[in-house]
Amino acid sequence: MRGATIIAAAVALWGTVPASAADPAEGRRIAERWCAACHVVSSEQSRGSEGAPPFSELAGRIDFRSRPLAEVLAGPHPSMPNMQLGRSEADDLTAYIRTQK
Ligand code: HEC
Repeated sequence: MRGATIIAAAVALWGTVPASAADPAEGRRIAERWCAACHVVSSEQSRGSEGAPPFSELAGRIDFRSRPLAEVLAGPHPSMPNMQLGRSEADDLTAYIRTQK
């Protein structure tokens, strides 16, 4: 009974992101490599480029369950050269952004 409750809570928390696959540490590496040029991706980074909201703000503002990151980036986001975000990278990044709340 208890176990099932915990699993249900975990599933609710993670939404569509499979908890076993998403790795926030890997997400941070991806963010530092691909997103930090514009976004402030962690509290250790002092500044990003103008107009790009810090990840701490995005974490509070975007509901990634109804708007998966891959969809957000495919929308009206400034284009990012040479970047192919695979499904598992997107999941890792989402997990990481959530830790920045
Ligand atoms: C070339 C600069 C640049 C890079 C690189 C970049 N972004 Fe952005 N991003 C922006 C700017 C500027 C905005 C604000 C756009 C706006 O409000 O119209 C933004 C907005 C966003 C938003 C919010 C979109 C919304 O609908 O509110 C998300 C989420 C996001 N970026 C994620 C990422 C992730 C994840 C990466 C790395 C994979 C990344 N960005 C890399 C410049 C960049």
